[in-house]
Amino acid sequence: MSPTVPENHVFLTRPLPERVMHEARASLPVTLTSHPTKDVPPNRQELIEGCRGASGLIVMLTDQIDDEVLDAAGPQLQVIANVAVGFDNIDVEAASRRGIVVTNTPGVLDEATADLAFTLLLTTVRRLVEADRFVRSGKPWNWGPQSFVGLDVSAGATLGIVGLGRTGMAVARRAHAFGMSIVATGSRATSSEAVEIGVAASDLEHLLEISDVVSLHCPLTPDNRHMIGQAQLAAMKQGSYLINTARGPLVDEEALADALDSGHLAGAGLDVHEHEPQINARLREMEQVVLLPHIGSAGSATRDAMGSLAVRNVTEVLSGRDALTPVDL
Ligand code: DGY
Repeated sequence: MSPTVPENHVFLTRPLPERVMHEARASLPVTLTSHPTKDVPPNRQELIEGCRGASGLIVMLTDQIDDEVLDAAGPQLQVIANVAVGFDNIDVEAASRRGIVVTNTPGVLDEATADLAFTLLLTTVRRLVEADRFVRSGKPWNWGPQSFVGLDVSAGATLGIVGLGRTGMAVARRAHAFGMSIVATGSRATSSEAVEIGVAASDLEHLLEISDVVSLHCPLTPDNRHMIGQAQLAAMKQGSYLINTARGPLVDEEALADALDSGHLAGAGLDVHEHEPQINARLREMEQVVLLPHIGSAGSATRDAMGSLAVRNVTEVLSGRDALTPVDL
């Protein structure tokens, strides 16, 4: 460890919004990487070095926290706070074997993520990006009865929500307000709130068969990588759409590119990517695909709330109290 880094510091892998940095510095001995003002992830070496001697880590979904990092950090490490609700970047089992608490940020980004998911849905099915590119091309144009025609979501289209948790429910509320029929998989699909807005509980197979748009809202686990692969895409309705704002590896992107190429799927909206930050070269070339750089939670109040919750989780654990939002194994 460099002599300037205090023992038992809290290593923060990326500068957070100013309000959160203020809160963090006021309550914790925070250290940052060697490029503390840049919004770029530390490379592997910087991550390992930064963790050495830390009693707490505040990390992003781009930081892979595994045995190697935990060994380098040392036995004084007590808490790892992920500034995200998803925590597939952290080997929680390895942390818990060492008695380290892992926390995430549930409950503060559902609405922002649902706003983005529903915006991406409308943008994809109504072909907004394609239309915008066309206008910017400067080509001559006139209003046309068959120009840029897409799906009418409000004319009885069915939305299939895969994983009706907090964010999925927030998407369902938006879809209900737009007059869509909704089917969903997941623990809350039979809850009173879901029933009230007309959600029909379904298994994945039936959902894929009947949905005009399928939207993914489940966490990535060791068991559900490529849960949407060739067979599932083939089972989707002819001319339907796939929206993913959850995690990229849920979808086999080569199989998705095939399904789009053949015209079986009409389009896809992806905020997350299988090999983030790399973008699938075939999908990048397709007009009917909308690609975003993982911005589901990128509302300013939401990012403040995520950062603040992570800081408070670390403060609680280092003060000998329970974490506010611990991750369960
Ligand atoms: C999360 O919190 O898991 C999101 O993907 C971050 O935007």
